[in-house]
Amino acid sequence: MARIRLESVGKRYPNGFVALEELSLEIADREFVVLLGPSGCGKSTTLNLIAGLEDVTAGSLYFDSTLMNVVPAHKRDVAMVFQSYALYPHKSVYENIAFGLRMRGHPRAEIESRVKDAARSLEIEPLLERRPHQLSGGQRQRVALGRALVRQPAAFLMDEPLSNLDAALRIAMRAEIKKLHHTMRTTFVYVTHDQAEALTLADRIVVMREGVIQQIGSPEEIYDRPRNTFVASFLGNPPINYLEGTLAADGARFVRGGLSLALPPELSKKIGAENGRQVRLGIRAEDVDPRGTGETLQGRISSVLPVGSDQFLGVEVEGTTLFFRVGRELRAAEGENVALSVNMNRAQIFDSSSGASLLWK
Ligand SMILES: Nc1ncnc2c1ncn2[C@@H]1O[C@H](COP(=O)(O)OP(=O)(O)OP(=O)(O)O)[C@@H](O)[C@H]1O
Ligand SMILES: [Mg+2]
Repeated sequence: MARIRLESVGKRYPNGFVALEELSLEIADREFVVLLGPSGCGKSTTLNLIAGLEDVTAGSLYFDSTLMNVVPAHKRDVAMVFQSYALYPHKSVYENIAFGLRMRGHPRAEIESRVKDAARSLEIEPLLERRPHQLSGGQRQRVALGRALVRQPAAFLMDEPLSNLDAALRIAMRAEIKKLHHTMRTTFVYVTHDQAEALTLADRIVVMREGVIQQIGSPEEIYDRPRNTFVASFLGNPPINYLEGTLAADGARFVRGGLSLALPPELSKKIGAENGRQVRLGIRAEDVDPRGTGETLQGRISSVLPVGSDQFLGVEVEGTTLFFRVGRELRAAEGENVALSVNMNRAQIFDSSSGASLLWK
């Protein structure tokens, strides 16, 4: 095992609140799937159902072809890592990692070799005799990972395991987790509300909103071909910009006030010959070039925010403020006018009222 399949799975909590409706998802053996979405969308609920910490109240959950709905948690061969990874304060690192195996009655020699292996892959071998209070946050998180690792489970379930760490450590640990996935060759299901974490870790991302899956796809698919404005807005920093307007010239142009942008034939073919349809044009912050020669946005600079390697520009265009990421070499000052060429091949077009992408056919 570990192919995990959810078929129209629902979760109604005892107080009557429906956290998940008809969720269907198939996770392949050895795949790294990230559940991504805002607070309260049902990520932890989904993970807890897979782990057996909560009961499925509708639909079916399978591991390979075995129905798991009523199989108790301890018989599921999954290991879970939580955000709050309480370690036993009076036990050494070694004992913290070994504890679960001891409880399950594994022989002493086997425990020792498994703990040593886990410690080696997490690079905490020199720390095995220390107690948790003698460790940094990142080292403690590794011990928590080690505890899950020694179980050698068929699937790892991780619920925001890095959110207690500072920004730099989070990035370092992301790389560790990715490496772990390569060496362990098992299925990982990972919950986060951090889009950057999802983009770097996932084979596939599942974007959720209020208990409903919005889109499932590779990081590139989710970023480049969002199905609706919710998905488009959830990924990207600064977030994607929107301009409300109408389609003209049989779907070949986007018009808003004095602004008229030609859509590439590829895009307008997908949209169809539409005139006067209310649409929302989406332009990612990085998809403009101050020196380009394509379709141009003219506007007044309302803010300049240097962010080290780049700068964020706030630009007033046709009554809306858009935020772009441009290189530092552009000398920009508030109040000045600027002309930015837009990479229209990467533009998104959504229906104004439903928010659904018109490029998804
Ligand atoms: N035991 C419970 N009883 C009733 N409602 C619950 C229970 N646990 C969670 N919920 C509700 O179910 C919804 C989904 O919760 P869940 O914990 O799965 O969200 P999440 O996506 O993990 O959010 P976060 O990012 O904040 O951890 C929320 O609206 C939450 O209030
Ligand atoms: Mg949660």
